[in-house]
Amino acid sequence: MKKNTLMAIVMVNSVMLSASAFAAPSTGGEIFKANCSVCHPHGGNIMRPDKPLKGIRNPERIISQIRSGGGGMPSFDVKTISDVDAKQLAEYIMKTFKK
Ligand code: HEC
Repeated sequence: MKKNTLMAIVMVNSVMLSASAFAAPSTGGEIFKANCSVCHPHGGNIMRPDKPLKGIRNPERIISQIRSGGGGMPSFDVKTISDVDAKQLAEYIMKTFKK
């Protein structure tokens, strides 16, 4: 009985671990893939081709767009993308999508 209880705890723990790993990807690239790449594949912009991510040099501009959205882009609050993740995401975008 005691052994079964322990097994159950171990199983619940590993399910929770994999669920949180999915909900909170930890690198800029993973966050980008999960939240942004649908509309911004390869740093482009399928809805507004004149407003791609390519060539943006200012992380504040990226972060403020993430937080407020607008112009057809949804906003992402701190619960969806934490401040730390938003910074990593901005760095990933600037590093990956150069002109
Ligand atoms: C549903 C589609 C959609 C998703 C998802 C989306 N965007 Fe956007 N994004 C847009 C649109 C449309 C615009 C143009 C907004 C405008 O007209 O001002 C935009 C604009 C931007 C801009 C400003 C570009 C410029 O040249 O001014 C940045 C930066 C940006 N998005 C980053 C992101 C990031 C980072 C994510 C993921 C967290 C994301 N977007 C997710 C549609 C999307």
